[in-house]
Amino acid sequence: MAVPLTVDTDRVRREVAVQLVSDRRAEWGQFMTPAPIARLMAGLFPSGSGSECRLLDAGAGVGSLTAAFLDRCIAGELRFRRIHVDAYEIDPVIRARLAETLDVYRMGLGVEARIHDADFIRAAVDVLAGSLFAESLPRFTHAILNPPYRKIRSDSPERAFLRSVGIETVNLYSAFVALALALLRRGGHLVAIIPRSFCNGPYYKPFRCFMLRQAALRCVHLFDARDRAFKDDGVLQENVILLLERGGHQGDVRFSRSADGLCADWTERLLQFEQVVHPSDPERFIRLPLSEFSARLSASSRFRRTLCDLDVEVSTGPVVDFRMKDDLRRMPEEGAVPLLYPAHFRDGGMQWPKDGFRKWNAIAHNGRTERWLFPAGFYVAVRRFSAKEERRRVVAGVVDPAAWRAPRSSALKTTSTSSTGGGRACPNPLPGDWPASLTPPYSMKPSAPSTGTPKLTPRTCAR
Ligand SMILES: C[S@@+](CC[C@H](N)C(=O)[O-])C[C@H]1O[C@@H](n2cnc3c(N)ncnc32)[C@H](O)[C@@H]1O
Repeated sequence: MAVPLTVDTDRVRREVAVQLVSDRRAEWGQFMTPAPIARLMAGLFPSGSGSECRLLDAGAGVGSLTAAFLDRCIAGELRFRRIHVDAYEIDPVIRARLAETLDVYRMGLGVEARIHDADFIRAAVDVLAGSLFAESLPRFTHAILNPPYRKIRSDSPERAFLRSVGIETVNLYSAFVALALALLRRGGHLVAIIPRSFCNGPYYKPFRCFMLRQAALRCVHLFDARDRAFKDDGVLQENVILLLERGGHQGDVRFSRSADGLCADWTERLLQFEQVVHPSDPERFIRLPLSEFSARLSASSRFRRTLCDLDVEVSTGPVVDFRMKDDLRRMPEEGAVPLLYPAHFRDGGMQWPKDGFRKWNAIAHNGRTERWLFPAGFYVAVRRFSAKEERRRVVAGVVDPAAWRAPRSSALKTTSTSSTGGGRACPNPLPGDWPASLTPPYSMKPSAPSTGTPKLTPRTCAR
């Protein structure tokens, strides 16, 4: 049964949304949490009791998350003798509505609430760095957040602040989570809704390492639909909700899924932590296996090798077609080599050339294009992007030069390719000896003229 909110935060959220300045909205990531998701998030905190609760809401908006948490206190699921809330909100327009929300709980529940008119990053760094000018802040028992999302450049003031307390990260959302975690007491819990992008990729590695060192990952909730969680604001984002326990002993991870915050199709299961983060993975990728089968596959010791271990390189196709228009050819011709797009992929191989193709089937082989061509050989070409909604997420085709009678090389557009280490094509006898081209963003670049076996430069080998 849904717990009734004492404040109708959905109404307040909608009223405020029309008052916001659009530039600021993007800069400060002002996309507020709908009440059902706020309730789902607050519901993840383990029920219990204690003498004191100190709740942090960083980037509090109109207070929807704090309200959902306090409604659980009203419902008796969380029992504390004293409750203090510290809410940070940078926008004065929103802060006024936040104050109204918190007043309701101040009066109704005796909550002590402080609203900080401050940039949370600066304020938290000051506290953690022990600055003389820092406000005194107790360590928190609970933190709940839907932080702003925005990339932070490596030369930005935010990055410098964060570095000063040992936090290296690339987005406001991961900065907020890292700081909030650092401000928690041992045993304290943090619930956050954030994009899923931190789960893999090299940029978020320091954040993953920090998070998994500081806290035990207790629950992950995944929204299956990208367009529903924040549908009022038209946000298309793959979001997850995390429950972390600062300093907790890592055990199994509860993994739940639903299309949206209404959770009509809720499913959940327990995953061993080793299924989520492989013990031998130096990248600390966070894997969310969608089925029992993929969980078993992910945990299997048979799939532990990296591409580097296998002497296979991945690279992006280097041809940027709109910059090389003069060299593009609709159909093969003398002096041109195959140019491959994902549209050429067919049944695990290549259908080339394509009659009536609205893009290009070939590229001239000359001094301008030489550096973008791949030596003839076997490659696996992979389409770079796929949408979450697509049934088949990996779309690939084998480039088999035997299928094309003459070329010495080829080019790929918008795909990634793999070849053997040292950038050689996968070994196979080749008819003739000709270069091929692959367009961006995946490329293998011959470092020597195409005589003998060219050296290719790997772009994405993780080590
Ligand atoms: C994604 S919204 C979420 C608001 C609220 N937590 C919710 O769930 O509805 C992020 C909020 O953080 C505020 N904000 C952005 N940058 C901030 C900063 N550096 N310090 C404090 N608040 C910030 C924005 O104004 C916005 O209200």
